[in-house]
Amino acid sequence: MNDPGSKAARAGAEQCTPSSRRPASRPCGATRRAFLVGAVAGVSSLAVPSLGRAQFGVGDVVYVPTPQVVVNRMMTMAKVSAADFVIDLGSGDGRQLITAVSKFGAKGGRGFDLDEELLKLANANAKKEGVSDRVQFVRRNMFETDVSGASVITLYLLPELNLKLRPKLFAELRPGSRIVSHDYSMGDWQAEETVTMQVPEKQVGTPGISYVYLWIVPANASGTWQWKLPNGQTLDATVRQTFQNVDVRGTLVGAKPINVTLATLRGEDIRISALVEVGARTLRHDFVGRVRGDAIEGTVRVYDKTESSTPWSALRTGGRAASLEPQAPPR
Ligand SMILES: C[S@@+](CC[C@H](N)C(=O)[O-])C[C@H]1O[C@@H](n2cnc3c(N)ncnc32)[C@H](O)[C@@H]1O
Repeated sequence: MNDPGSKAARAGAEQCTPSSRRPASRPCGATRRAFLVGAVAGVSSLAVPSLGRAQFGVGDVVYVPTPQVVVNRMMTMAKVSAADFVIDLGSGDGRQLITAVSKFGAKGGRGFDLDEELLKLANANAKKEGVSDRVQFVRRNMFETDVSGASVITLYLLPELNLKLRPKLFAELRPGSRIVSHDYSMGDWQAEETVTMQVPEKQVGTPGISYVYLWIVPANASGTWQWKLPNGQTLDATVRQTFQNVDVRGTLVGAKPINVTLATLRGEDIRISALVEVGARTLRHDFVGRVRGDAIEGTVRVYDKTESSTPWSALRTGGRAASLEPQAPPR
């Protein structure tokens, strides 16, 4: 598939000086102009009042609201519920968090922006919607903000800003946290889900079309692990991991490698299917567990003449990668 993020970016972002070399208060010319069209025309349910100036938004990207229909889809894709605390990085008029709390029942949210007038507007909108006890908007640079309290992050930024945020999101968010982004991808970190929407009122990026991306922060399952099979044999496994992609190799101690046919990781949930020699037979084993720190707890189902399920636990014996970004040196 084409990278829609890049296409959308070309419409307004590519002439932009890399944000890392620009002071946060200085507009990014082409990007800000392209987005300005939408700041006027793309407003949906929460109106932007006259702020007494031509352009809204301060920092690395100009203000453009995400159309409400797209906000709703972002919440649905992230499965926002009462268990969630949502953070919007670059919160604009506050619609992402107000929607998360008032329509999807999130327990709370916090938005960060650099534009004082948008912050005032977002806090006023939260008050108007009766959620100001659970949603606050605060002046803070998104790159200097601790996001570890979030279970869901919402973004409507630019491709290069998503990429710049990526290591921070990996470092601070708990495994299983969801990130949803309007229009822009995360480079080579493949999304779990991508949706294309027809949005006739949208004027910026790819006019009339919005892209929504969902990522789930994976646990760090990299390194070497040891566990016992139901028949008492010991298995040594090595997991190589980039983002959520895991490559699992296993060897029975004193015997030959097992044949791993499937290995997936989604948040903390790991699944490994393998064909294992047990005596003279080769039996399918399905391991399902949760990666928590240096331990995995779960079950293993063995397909013999009858199926049997027994507890499975594994311990990491070393080699955990410092980061799940590509080319991270082993720790
Ligand atoms: C495209 S708007 C998105 C608004 C809102 N999240 C939405 O989806 O409707 C981006 C916002 O990011 C803010 N912003 C830009 N750079 C920022 C930074 N470094 N830290 C915090 N906010 C920033 C801008 O002021 C603007 O309000």
